Amino acid sequence: MDVLEQLQMQGTENDALQHDKGKKWLNITPGTGKFLALLVDEIQPTRILEIGTSMGYSTLWLARAGGNSVQVVTIECDETKHQQAQQHFRQAGMDKRIDAKLGDASDWIARLEGQFELIFLDADRSQYLSFAPRLFQLLKPQGLLVVDNALSHADEIAPFKRWLEQQSELDVGVLPIGKGELVAYLRE
Ligand SMILES: C[S@@+](CC[C@H](N)C(=O)[O-])C[C@H]1O[C@@H](n2cnc3c(N)ncnc32)[C@H](O)[C@@H]1O
Repeated sequence: MDVLEQLQMQGTENDALQHDKGKKWLNITPGTGKFLALLVDEIQPTRILEIGTSMGYSTLWLARAGGNSVQVVTIECDETKHQQAQQHFRQAGMDKRIDAKLGDASDWIARLEGQFELIFLDADRSQYLSFAPRLFQLLKPQGLLVVDNALSHADEIAPFKRWLEQQSELDVGVLPIGKGELVAYLRE
């Protein structure tokens, strides 16, 4: 079975049985995975940043679509998940394209250098507003920021969405894909 199908099934089974939210995988939907892959195929990014690796399901959608020239930097604060995700990356033969970082995203994004053509945000929504100014700096002109759960948890991401909408260089919209995908495009 394909690694993505396997992770999708395992994630669904795990999350149905698991009561501890910290141990749920909380994978994006397969539809969101296909949407991310479509974006990657169109943009042909060389660098992608993901915040919220979990078991690496969304990371693998991004890395697979990117071809040999892409580098995906993905950040996860839970050590068990970080290690299991790395196993999944090796299993999928994608570990060379993925730079998996362990630790809090706020620390990592402060230290990252350069810019990214695509940023995918899928972590602790209460922190998004504090991430916003730095994510804006990390986004390359003509790049896209995509945020999961824009419809399923619209209230929680509202302050972050408002901040994005106040930046005159950004075009912001929400698509009814999966749990709702906020997309912000940085004009040149
Ligand atoms: C919704 S899950 C990510 C699911 C993953 N994107 C996927 O679809 O396969 C959110 C993850 O973000 C991690 N996380 C939450 N806040 C974080 C932070 N500040 N820094 C790094 N990781 C964080 C959680 O431990 C959790 O594994």
